[in-house]
Amino acid sequence: MIIRDVELVKVARTPGDYPPSLKGEVAFVGRSNVGKSSLLNALFNRKVAFVSKTPGKTRSINFYLVNSKYYFVDLPGYGYAKVSKKERMLWKRLVEDYFKNRWSLQMVFLLVDGRIPPQDSDFMMIEWMKSLNIPFTIVLTKMDKVKMSERAKKLEEHRKVFSRYGEYTIIPTSSVTGEGISELLDLISTLLKEN
Ligand code: GTP
Ligand code: MG
Repeated sequence: MIIRDVELVKVARTPGDYPPSLKGEVAFVGRSNVGKSSLLNALFNRKVAFVSKTPGKTRSINFYLVNSKYYFVDLPGYGYAKVSKKERMLWKRLVEDYFKNRWSLQMVFLLVDGRIPPQDSDFMMIEWMKSLNIPFTIVLTKMDKVKMSERAKKLEEHRKVFSRYGEYTIIPTSSVTGEGISELLDLISTLLKEN
């Protein structure tokens, strides 16, 4: 898939505030600071999504229109300790509505930090998506920070942990080195039936 143009067309802060569905849509979710916005920028090959060192920056559902045809959706992060109960509730309401009502959603990419074991919030996210019948693929982020000598062990650990939930594709990536980016784009192309 060649990404010719990308445009942030909608920043949704309330449930249902989405642009009309198009031909296809994929979404990206994960803990705050896991690298969702960075991964989107790597896929787009340009800086469109806002990246920050402070967790919890993306608090809305951001719809990126790609090639005037598809949506790539940046979902707000979860699992950040310094977030009030009220904000957690709002997050849940927003994301739940999106999962339940966005019929054009074809795949969720669940981003998990490749350097550390998955956290409880990641497991909760998996259970939640499974219960809602949302198809998902696991993407390991920040692989450039994993030492070469530990790489195989870390990948195996992740594979083992996630195998509890079923057979899932796990894609190791890095927004810094570009690892896994073309593989991910190929997968998205296939999902969207685009070459
Ligand atoms: P929220 O919007 O707050 O939920 O965060 P996010 O998941 O969108 O993360 P973001 O892309 O803003 O990145 C968070 C931090 O991680 C930034 O300091 C990034 O530079 C860094 N980061 C993201 N991806 C990578 C990566 O592949 N490698 C390395 N080394 N750092 C990364
Ligand atoms: Mg973000």
